[in-house]
Amino acid sequence: MFDVNELRADFPILSRSVRGVPLVYLDSGATSQKPTQVLDAERHFYENSNAVVHRGAHALAEEATDAYERARQTIASFVGAHVDEVVFTKNATEGINLVAYAFSNATDKARQGLDVDQRFVIGPGDSIVVTEMEHHANLVPWQELCAKTGAHLRWFGITEEGRLNIEPGVIDSTTKFVSVVHQSNLLGTINPVREIMDMAHAVGALGMVDLCQSVPHMPVNVHELGADFASWSGHKMLGPTGIGILWGRAELLNVMPPFLTGGSMIEMVHMEQSTYAPAPQRFEAGVPMVAQAIGLARACEYLTDLGMENVFQHEQELTAYTLAELGKLPGVRVIGPLDTHDRGSAVSFVVDGIHPHDVGHLMDSMGVAVRVGHHCCWPTCRRFDVPATTRITTYIYNDKSDIDQAIAGIKSAQEFFGATVAVSA
Ligand code: ALA
Repeated sequence: MFDVNELRADFPILSRSVRGVPLVYLDSGATSQKPTQVLDAERHFYENSNAVVHRGAHALAEEATDAYERARQTIASFVGAHVDEVVFTKNATEGINLVAYAFSNATDKARQGLDVDQRFVIGPGDSIVVTEMEHHANLVPWQELCAKTGAHLRWFGITEEGRLNIEPGVIDSTTKFVSVVHQSNLLGTINPVREIMDMAHAVGALGMVDLCQSVPHMPVNVHELGADFASWSGHKMLGPTGIGILWGRAELLNVMPPFLTGGSMIEMVHMEQSTYAPAPQRFEAGVPMVAQAIGLARACEYLTDLGMENVFQHEQELTAYTLAELGKLPGVRVIGPLDTHDRGSAVSFVVDGIHPHDVGHLMDSMGVAVRVGHHCCWPTCRRFDVPATTRITTYIYNDKSDIDQAIAGIKSAQEFFGATVAVSA
């Protein structure tokens, strides 16, 4: 197991103060902080090898291209993927949209009588299945695809405990695509994605898993998910902003219509028409995010050195502690599973009589950074009849003292607003 105090020295931002007190950062579900090793990797690239990749024959262009493709290999290895299956995107949202657009583009082309892979052609009478615990990035693109094609959106609901209600009949012979979140960013629930992907394949549908909150926090092998596609962001796993990954089975990526078109993604270009490069270049139009890829690869190495089993174990301990401490507070209700069984480190809660934003502001005044709001999961909040929640999310650099400080912040909010009085009255 790693030493939290030792590794905190790698994160310059964690030694700063906010509001006149030391920062306690408990918002890694929104974005993680970055170690010096990642910052240095990006700086080293810009200071030594900066050039545009896959173009030009000069020394810097060669070095930049090598570094970029080595980064792809490192990131692929981190999740057990083949290098050709890893597409660089701006973020997870773009990766999900890329797949949604493959469907609508294929459907448009089919309407024009063009030859497309029928697995991506969708229309009235077909269904797409998601869950009620998706964040908007894995909901709105599928709503939009349905609006464009006439397909129907269905979803698995959520039990009172915060688990998926995997009812029979939601996935059926009409289903063309299923997209589910691995770990909910609001509830913390870890879903049985393999089971759901198997259900999708049993009816001939393709499936996708949103890995935004799982790849940073636990060992993930993309092939073991049983999915056809997966997407996640770099910035939640110690990497830079501006880079995400779409993983897809090579056989599918190579027959999907492209999303963004232009330079770098072509094979041949004529005035009348063009042909496209194989994946992953097929989906990387324009000058890509080279420094960010290099930074993300360094983040993968950093996490690999810690050991993803250790990362998961550390967070399980912190999550158990967080749930236990919140459980001792009167008037505090956790929204999501109350133990660590199939549950990750995102812990959302509401405090009786105090709006989550006010709880967050009081915590912030004590240096504790948490996220408040609907967490881009408005339907999940509605399911639990709350307008918003306050959310603690931990990572490798947090320890129990951070949770103690968060609990002190919640108590302070209750005292300030007189909420415990209201609760016990
Ligand atoms: N989806 C991110 C979060 O949960 C932004 O905070």
